[in-house]
Amino acid sequence: MVRRKGVTSMRKMTDYEMDPEYMACTEDIRRHPVFRSMDQYIQHGTTTCMDHCIRVSYLGYKICRAIGGNWRSAARAGLLHDLFLYDWHTYARETGKHFHGLTHPRAALENAEKYFVLTREEKNIILRHMWPLTPIPPATRAGAAIVWADKVLSLEETMEGIRLRLPSFCGYHG
Ligand SMILES: [Fe+2]
Ligand SMILES: [Fe+2]
Repeated sequence: MVRRKGVTSMRKMTDYEMDPEYMACTEDIRRHPVFRSMDQYIQHGTTTCMDHCIRVSYLGYKICRAIGGNWRSAARAGLLHDLFLYDWHTYARETGKHFHGLTHPRAALENAEKYFVLTREEKNIILRHMWPLTPIPPATRAGAAIVWADKVLSLEETMEGIRLRLPSFCGYHG
């Protein structure tokens, strides 16, 4: 599902913008055109891939700051964890490839390596973020933080998308 004109992310994301350390360690990625190109694709509900990645990145970063772990790696890899750069809603139909859930971490990593210099930990976080759907868990606390943030926010975004569409499902046009 490509983002429709007029569709905006479900919440104003001003919290991360007021965190100077987060902003400083992610600035090059957030400003990069390939990162910003994710704003054309819907990830869950009405949330674009770009907004989803920012949300996962910032929650993973905050978890790491609370429990210990490399918050810089969590912030940067979180931004890149879904950099697969296609519309997954139509991907199987258009390509005949039916395992987006399993294959997109490697696609995201390959794209990320083309445009950014990544640490070993950042590569591991991107590649292992779909655990336990993919069998090998991330190697570090920052990776675990991104797994957790991704699961929680994906569910929240999906449920919010359903909630917003309920009136039309029920024929209500108030
Ligand atoms: Fe993902
Ligand atoms: Fe994700």
